[in-house]
Amino acid sequence: MIPANTVRDIMDAVRIEEVVEEFVNLRRRGVNMIGLCPFHNEKTPSFNVNPTRNIFKCFGCGKGGDAVTFLIEHEKFTYPEALRWLARKYNIEIEEVERTPEQVAEQQLTDSLYIVNDFALQHFQTQLFDTDEGKSIALAYFKQRGLREDTIRTFGLGYAPSLHDLLLQRAKAAGHSLELIKKVGLCNQEGTRDFFRGRVMFAIHNLSGKVAAFAGRTMSSDKKVPKYINSPETEIYVKNKILYGAYQAKKAIRQLDECILVEGYTDVLSLFQSGIENVVASSGTALTEGQLQLIKRNTENLKILYDGDPAGVKAALRGLDLALEQGLNVKVVLLPEGEDPDSYIQKVGSTAFGEYIDREARDFILFKTGLLMEEAKGDPIKKAGLIKDILGSIARIPDPIKRGVYLKECSSLLDVSEEVLHVETNKLIAGALRKKADRDARQPQAASDSRTGSIRPDVPMPDPEISKPAREEGPKRGDEFQERDIIRLLVQFGNQMLSDENITLAELVVADIEESLDSFDNPLYSRIAQECHSRLLAGQPVTPEFFLEHNLKEVRDLAITLLAEPTRWNYSPNWEAMKDLPLQNQPMPEFNFSSDAQKSLNLFKLRKIVKILDLNKERIRAAEQSGKLEELARLHKVHIKLQEVFKEISKRTGTIILR
Ligand code: UTP
Ligand code: MN
Repeated sequence: MIPANTVRDIMDAVRIEEVVEEFVNLRRRGVNMIGLCPFHNEKTPSFNVNPTRNIFKCFGCGKGGDAVTFLIEHEKFTYPEALRWLARKYNIEIEEVERTPEQVAEQQLTDSLYIVNDFALQHFQTQLFDTDEGKSIALAYFKQRGLREDTIRTFGLGYAPSLHDLLLQRAKAAGHSLELIKKVGLCNQEGTRDFFRGRVMFAIHNLSGKVAAFAGRTMSSDKKVPKYINSPETEIYVKNKILYGAYQAKKAIRQLDECILVEGYTDVLSLFQSGIENVVASSGTALTEGQLQLIKRNTENLKILYDGDPAGVKAALRGLDLALEQGLNVKVVLLPEGEDPDSYIQKVGSTAFGEYIDREARDFILFKTGLLMEEAKGDPIKKAGLIKDILGSIARIPDPIKRGVYLKECSSLLDVSEEVLHVETNKLIAGALRKKADRDARQPQAASDSRTGSIRPDVPMPDPEISKPAREEGPKRGDEFQERDIIRLLVQFGNQMLSDENITLAELVVADIEESLDSFDNPLYSRIAQECHSRLLAGQPVTPEFFLEHNLKEVRDLAITLLAEPTRWNYSPNWEAMKDLPLQNQPMPEFNFSSDAQKSLNLFKLRKIVKILDLNKERIRAAEQSGKLEELARLHKVHIKLQEVFKEISKRTGTIILR
C-alpha cells in the first residue's frame, strides 16, 4: 500500500504535459498543448492538455482526466501501478507501508531475475552482432530468413554460440550469482553448462518490456534435435500469461482495435516487419485464459491465423470457446495449405497478405457452423449433435445481445427456428449457472471469501426480512410484474451502453424510477433496485456478475432465472401500457413512449423528471467545481436526454409545466 502522504507528494510533482509527452507528440497552442488523440484514430488533433489545471481532454472521443487516469487508460495500469510509474518518473521514493518481509524478498528476487536476463540479452546480442561466428552463422541465418536489422533489434534477437559455458563464465565474472543464473534457467542445475548452446535466440518480453525468458531455435535440420527450447517457468515467466510479441504489438493493437494471433515466433517477426504490427504468438500451444485476458485488456477483437490444415483447425476451434467466454469477438483466417504466416507473407508480400486476411476472415461461430454442417450433410443425428456443439459455443458469450444476433444467423444456416435455438441456449446457460452455483455452495468458504470485506465492502449483509424465498413462480401482487421486469432489465442489460448515449441502461432505468425506489411491493426487488441505485451513485457498474456473485442467495438465484429467460418477446402483461421503460423487442433498449400511456402517469413522470433535472444540475455544478471533466460530459448527456424526455412527454400530454 502506498501511504496517503506519498500519493500527495506524487500528485504534487506530476506535470500532466510531461507525462502525456512520453506517449503523444504535443505542440503548444495558447496556454494548452494539443496532439493526436492516442485513444481513437484521428487525423486532426483534438487531444488537449491543460497544464494549468493539470488535466487532459479529447474533444473527439471525450476521454479526459488527470495523469493517473491517463496512465490507467493508456497503459492499462491499475491505480497503484500508475502511481508507482509516476513516482519513478519524479524520483519520489515510495515507502510501502504494509509490505511484509516476504513481499520485500519476493520483489528483490524478481528484480534480480530480470537483471540476470538483461545481462544474458546483452550477451546474446553481442555474440550476434560483434563476433565473427555470430555474424557469419546467426546473423546470416536471420538475414537469409528475410529479417532486417531493425526487426532483430526491436525483438531482442541474439545468438548463443556452441560453446560449453560461455554465458556462465561471463555472468559470474560480471558478479551475478550462480543461484540466480540457475533460477532463470540459463544454465543446468549443476551450474556447469549453459542451457542455450548453438542456437539463435529470441527474447520473450513481458508487457512492460522486461525480458522474462528466452527461446532458442536450433539451426540444424536434424529432426532429433528439438526445434525450439525455452526457459523454464519462473517467478517472472508464467507461460500461460505471456504472449510473444505483446509488448511490441500493444500500441498497434490498441490503435487498430484488433489483435492478430499466430502460432510461431517467426510469424510475429515477419508480419511486424511488414507493417502488420498488431500481432502476437501463442507459441504453439492452446490459448489460455490468462493470455486471453491479456488480449482483452487491449482489444475485444481477435483474429486468428491458421495454417490451412482442416483437421488441425477443427481441433483448434475447440479451444476458442474460452475466448468467447471472455467476451472477445473472434474471427479465423485459414491460410493456403502448407503455408504459415511467415512463409506466406514472404511469398506474396505484405499488401497481398493484408488483402488475403481481410477477405478470408470468417466469424468464428459462423465458420464453425459451416464447417460442421459440411460434415453432417444428410445425417440428422450428426446434425443434432452439431447444433448442441454450436449452441454450446454461443451460450458462452456473455453479452445477450450478441447471443441474439448469432442465434438469428445460425437459425438460417442450420435451418432451425430461432425460438427453438433461444430456448435451447437458455437451457444451456441456466445449466451452467446452476452448476456454478452448486460448486459455490459446495465450497462455501471459497464462495463467501470472494464476496467479503476487502473485495466488495459495499455489499450489505443478508437482511432477515427478505431471506424468505422469492416466490418466483407464485402469483404476483400489485406492481410486482412491473417490478420484476425492471429487475430483469437491470440483470440482463444493466451495463449496456445505450446507443449514441454515454449512459448505461441501468443509469437510465434507475433515474427513471428513482422516486419509487422505496415503494416497491416486493421486498427483494426493492432491495435490488436500491442496491443498484447506490452502486451507480458510487460510480460502480451494474453487471451480471454483481447479481451472480451477490452475497444473498435469493439474489443469485433470481439472477440465474432471469438470465436464462429469453431476452425477447417476454414482457409481462400491461407492461407497455404501464411504464415508459425500455422495451426489449428493439435493437437497443430505448425510451418508448407508448401512445396509450395514461395522462396521469405522464404527469407523474413529468414532475419526477423535473426533480431529476434539478438534481442533475446540482451534480453538474459540483462536477464543474471539482473539475471532473469526464463526469461533467456524462452529466451533460444525461441532462440532454432528460430534457428530450421531458419535451416528449409534455408534447404528449399537452401540458406545460412552469419551471
Ligand atoms: P513451428 O514448428 O510452426 O515453427 O512451431 P515456426 O514458428 O514456424 O518456426 P520456423 O519458421 O520453423 O523457424 C510454432 C511455434 O511452436 C513453438 C514455438 O513457439 C514455435 O514458434 N514450438 C515449436 C516450440 O516451442 N518448440 C518446438 O520444438 C516447436
Ligand atoms: Mn515457420
